[in-house]
Amino acid sequence: MKKANPSEHILETTVTPEEQNLLVSLRAASWPEFAGQEQVKRTLHIAIAAAKKRKEPLEHILLYGPPGLGKTTMAHLIGKELGVNVRVTSGPAIERAGDVAAILTNLEPNDILFIDEIHRLNKVVEETLYPAMEDYALDIVLGKGPAAKTLRLDLPPFTIIGATTRVGLLSSPMRDRFGVVARLSFYEPADIENILARAAKKLDIELDATARKELAKRSRGTPRIALRLLKRVLDVAQVEGNGKIDMPILTHSLTLYEVDSVGLDNSDRRLLTLLIDKFSGGPVGIETLAAALSEDIGTVEDVLEPYLMQVGFLKRTPRGRSATASAFAHLGKTPTKKQQEELF
Ligand SMILES: Nc1ncnc2c1ncn2[C@@H]1O[C@H](COP(=O)(O)OP(=O)(O)OP(=O)(O)O)[C@@H](O)[C@H]1O
Ligand SMILES: [Mg+2]
Repeated sequence: MKKANPSEHILETTVTPEEQNLLVSLRAASWPEFAGQEQVKRTLHIAIAAAKKRKEPLEHILLYGPPGLGKTTMAHLIGKELGVNVRVTSGPAIERAGDVAAILTNLEPNDILFIDEIHRLNKVVEETLYPAMEDYALDIVLGKGPAAKTLRLDLPPFTIIGATTRVGLLSSPMRDRFGVVARLSFYEPADIENILARAAKKLDIELDATARKELAKRSRGTPRIALRLLKRVLDVAQVEGNGKIDMPILTHSLTLYEVDSVGLDNSDRRLLTLLIDKFSGGPVGIETLAAALSEDIGTVEDVLEPYLMQVGFLKRTPRGRSATASAFAHLGKTPTKKQQEELF
């Protein structure tokens, strides 16, 4: 059984190959299996239908939002619906202009190039991509100095689907080249329940309705967390119980993994505790907060904060981050009179 490691965040833990296979095998294989995100799905369906009608490649699409909400899954579903290949790469993997040329010249007409972590593309690569995205052409410079010549290389029409957890870091010329920009948000508990029910069925896990509801509530509105927790609870159920997941096994397992009643884990609670105890509830600048946590700013902003704000435990103000009254209450702390006046 995998040991609970309190210092790890459930989203940050390294995915074991076994877990990776599990997540891939549970990937929604068709739109009906893809729960939630209704607004995004509607936008995508219109873009897809329009492309089909015009017999043109789909517009470039940018998907952004916290990790584990289904960006990669959506890219595959779009490819499937259009009947085209989806080539997968990521921002840091494309290092040189030549890499772009190699990838793009190998695409078949209307194929999708999925670029994960698109905010991490370097400048040169970005600039090579602009004409490619606009005109399906690459400008290649041959030679150096006065004798240099530019050669325009025509490309098959294609679609880029970019994904990022940090849309703010994307350069604006890059962002402007996407026809559709869609933000994925945290899922409703009912959607997470659907995802869990489907996974349990597929994996032949006995997960009772009350336990399913509770697990959904503690999964931070994130399908990937729900599925990983399901697997971990199953481990406990098999080792310490009879393999069935009911409320007693669920609460016992989640206590073991230190996931609390609203789905916060140790790193979330550590952030709130530090904010309240060391910085008097805030406001405190993100740099100071991240340094005190020994985390990088990106992890705090992309992984920890979105959910804490969603559940109303954290506020971003112009002067920095502050804890809310519910955060004090959740941690069983009583705000001083001064804190009450200044924070809430
Ligand atoms: N709406 C959904 N319905 C069913 N399963 C989903 C849904 N969204 C995501 N999943 C499942 O959750 C897991 C994580 O999804 P995915 O890898 O697509 O997330 P992501 O947004 O690409 O994450 P990251 O930002 O970390 O790359 C996958 O196993 C996927 O099948
Ligand atoms: Mg992904």
